Amino acid sequence: MKLNEIKTASAFDYKYLLNRIFPYIKPLIPRILLTFFLAIPLGLLDGVTAFALKPYIDVVVNGQTLDCFGYTLTRDFLALIIPPGIVIFAGIQGVLRYLNTYLSDWISLKISNTIKVDLFKKLVYLDSKFYDDNSSGLVISRFLTDPDIASRSLINSIKTLITSATSALGLIFVLLYNSWELAFVGVIVLVCAFLPMTFLRKKIKQVSNKTTVVGGDITTSFNETYKGNKVISGYNLQEMEFKKVSDLIKTTFNLQMSLTKRTGWLSPIMYIIASIGVAVVMLAGNELISAGRLTTGSFASFITSLLLLYKPIKTLGNDLTNIQGVFVAISRVFELFDFNSRIKDEGKVELNFIPQNIEFKNVRFSYDENNEILKGISFSAKRGQTIAIVGNSGGGKSTIVNLLPRFYDVCDGGIYFDCVNIKNFTLDSLRNSISQVFQNNFLFSGTIRENILIGNKNASDDDIKKVLKASHLDEFISTLEKGIDTNIAENGVSLSGGQQQRIAIARAMIKNAPIVVLDEATSALDNKSEKIVQKALDNLMKDKTVFVIAHRLSTIFNADKIIVVDDGKIVEMGTHEELLKLENGKYKNLYNMQFKNQEELLGKV
Ligand SMILES: Nc1ncnc2c1ncn2[C@@H]1O[C@H](COP(=O)(O)OP(=O)(O)OP(=O)(O)O)[C@@H](O)[C@H]1O
Ligand SMILES: [Mg+2]
Repeated sequence: MKLNEIKTASAFDYKYLLNRIFPYIKPLIPRILLTFFLAIPLGLLDGVTAFALKPYIDVVVNGQTLDCFGYTLTRDFLALIIPPGIVIFAGIQGVLRYLNTYLSDWISLKISNTIKVDLFKKLVYLDSKFYDDNSSGLVISRFLTDPDIASRSLINSIKTLITSATSALGLIFVLLYNSWELAFVGVIVLVCAFLPMTFLRKKIKQVSNKTTVVGGDITTSFNETYKGNKVISGYNLQEMEFKKVSDLIKTTFNLQMSLTKRTGWLSPIMYIIASIGVAVVMLAGNELISAGRLTTGSFASFITSLLLLYKPIKTLGNDLTNIQGVFVAISRVFELFDFNSRIKDEGKVELNFIPQNIEFKNVRFSYDENNEILKGISFSAKRGQTIAIVGNSGGGKSTIVNLLPRFYDVCDGGIYFDCVNIKNFTLDSLRNSISQVFQNNFLFSGTIRENILIGNKNASDDDIKKVLKASHLDEFISTLEKGIDTNIAENGVSLSGGQQQRIAIARAMIKNAPIVVLDEATSALDNKSEKIVQKALDNLMKDKTVFVIAHRLSTIFNADKIIVVDDGKIVEMGTHEELLKLENGKYKNLYNMQFKNQEELLGKV
């Protein structure tokens, strides 16, 4: 489930990639054709000024006569119409250029936005494993940058391809019209001037790919700086972070400069070769004029066209380089599209009842192939029971409860609600039946109310009031000026640990699901908040089937069953009293180490 860092296997399969992006292009085809159609006169009009120079110099300046379709055009007439004519044509070209740019921007933004919307829908439904495996920087650049390159550059490249090609054709026509011999020399030299470009294309591509990877690393580091700012300050890691990011920025600099070093001489060389062309044409042109085979007007018109031809030909060369990048971007976008959630929502049964019996049957699970984390877990819970899961850190407790809402699917064995495998329930109804409070709870930026309503959008004010009371938030909220509508900062950082936990509990409570999964936070709260959080949790657990990863003695005392997990296996199972009776038992050991000192505390409560 890992994204490729640079390019995918399909990056050069152009037919396949065009097929993939076609559905996004299809609804816009009429507009795209219009854009391309507008590009044709846009390009052709480049030749107009150069073309008009011949009659202007020959007739207006040098006083020759000009026949046009049987009419003799007079000097005065041409002197009158050519200058404003040039302006009018430039005006027409300007309007066309505006329309063309407007349309092509509209189209490419539309395509890129549609892709982004679809892509985000895909991303947000991907399973936890995807987010475990791929760095945020990589995914963000796939999401933000690649669709833009894929659509904008695709449309722009084709547009400029057409404009440049027609512009070149128009100018070549003017060249041929004036003198085919000179045209032959001029065009050959110009094409030679652009040959070096083709050799450099590969180099440019490699460097820009590397730049993308480094860009992703910078984003990831930046995210870490943000989320981990307290760790960074606390451990005085500022220098290290600074060095990491500044090294990456330096790498980008070096990459880009190495590209400039290799490609920067390209333009001057092309100019030199092109000017050799112009020089040759001048010498040859002089001969032709002396021999009376070329007028000065034709010559001026010719040289102007030749100079103008430099730009579209250069653009064509650039375009061919860009198009390669476009396909790489398309392939990156669709690689992401092809990631499918491993969690298949193929169940048909609606879980609209309260399960009487929940059973783990010989569940085996691994995050990756090499390392089995759960090695045959079997236990059951009756409706209304509380199952406490205890054990050493890293033993697999969180993993067990993460399987219930199918964040991950079991590799072998199964989890059954009243003898129905949970894979047979629709994912929505399964997750609707489970309220969860995580080890680290995530609060969204927004108000406290919004964060609580996540549990149940349709809850009434009355429900909210009850929940606030039951989660012991009411007192705290009454001290806030805006009460429950107070905005909390991103990640809930403006709240204390206990307050964050209680909001998470309130959110789970208002969901009012029959099954509660609780990963008790290990972080010790102070005595008073500990008690408040405990009371809130007790309220949440009332009349529910509860799976709780317990770090508090009181939770364990109240549990109907305790399962002791060690290294992916259940090593002991029973009530507190039963387990304490086992000589040299794991639980007894754990109890003596972890919980006993809490007893004293609890006694005082
Ligand atoms: N997303 C993940 N990807 C790969 N391995 C993981 C992932 N999450 C956990 N693990 C590994 O699975 C094992 C069990 O982890 P788990 O989080 O279930 O332990 P735990 O019993 O909840 O520990 P703790 O009491 O510290 O919370 C650990 O060895 C851990 O390294
Ligand atoms: Mg855990």
